[in-house]
Amino acid sequence: MSEATKCAWITGASSGLGRELALQMARDGWSVAVSARSAEKLDSLVAEAAGAGGRVAAYPLDVTDADAVGRTVARIESELGSIDQAVLNAGTHQPTPVHEFKASDFRKLVDLNLMGTINCLERLIGRFRERRAGRIAVVASVAGYTGLPQASAYGLTKAGLINLCEALRVELKPDGVTLQLVNPGFVRTPLTDRNDFPMPFLMEVEDAARALYRGLSRNSFEITFPRRFTWMMKLLRILPYSLKLAVTARMLRRPEGQAT
Ligand SMILES: NC(=O)c1ccc[n+]([C@@H]2O[C@H](COP(=O)([O-])OP(=O)(O)OC[C@H]3O[C@@H](n4cnc5c(N)ncnc54)[C@H](OP(=O)(O)O)[C@@H]3O)[C@@H](O)[C@H]2O)c1
Repeated sequence: MSEATKCAWITGASSGLGRELALQMARDGWSVAVSARSAEKLDSLVAEAAGAGGRVAAYPLDVTDADAVGRTVARIESELGSIDQAVLNAGTHQPTPVHEFKASDFRKLVDLNLMGTINCLERLIGRFRERRAGRIAVVASVAGYTGLPQASAYGLTKAGLINLCEALRVELKPDGVTLQLVNPGFVRTPLTDRNDFPMPFLMEVEDAARALYRGLSRNSFEITFPRRFTWMMKLLRILPYSLKLAVTARMLRRPEGQAT
């Protein structure tokens, strides 16, 4: 079904999941504002979408800059119209093994994954509550369900987003604003291309974006895929600690040269 009059804003749209979602929504008639730091990559996305007859407009942005987020949201709404659907997807992963434990690595991930998303929420919530309309999807991860070895920084940012969304969903509902939480499993993107371990149930980015897009049209709180893997992670989350920690200990990878 065509959504010709609808406007979406996707952050982290220069590659991976955000880029593919932007293409799929544009092909379906959405007017899509895309943000990320790399202006060149956004321009190539705009060109690719135009080739397929879709309307995508680039708004380069570093989401860790709260003032720039405010200016960008205002510009999008004055140029493209009210944002109907925001997908706060910008984020990254960096392993944080305990033998290289550095506060600066944690700060980087907290600033981007957590505070970057919160900067965007700040600018959207006021506008959406005022007009008693609008949908927001926050991209977290199944890595936020429970602590996983070597992902303590990434996991805490995604666990923070999950907790934040659980609270905001309930608070925003009476104001007519729909908040959804997106928890993907492994998806083949530049982010996971860096992983040097087997990724169970790895999804292709086109399929993952399609699952995300389908979820946006529903009212369920959580959008999660692929289902089989995410249910396994949900089960892990509720296991008693004695069992859960025995399972996660098996995921531990030792640095080369260190005895297991
Ligand atoms: N791939 C997976 O398996 C997986 C699983 C669970 C959750 N996720 C989540 O899905 C989201 C998208 O990840 P992906 O896999 O598609 O990774 P990706 O291809 O690396 O995409 C990350 C996007 O975030 C943007 N970004 C990074 N820093 C930014 C900043 N400061 N300001 C604005 N944009 C910024 C990047 O663009 P620039 O570098 O141009 O800024 C890029 O467009 C992330 O939140 C990730 O945690 C991914």
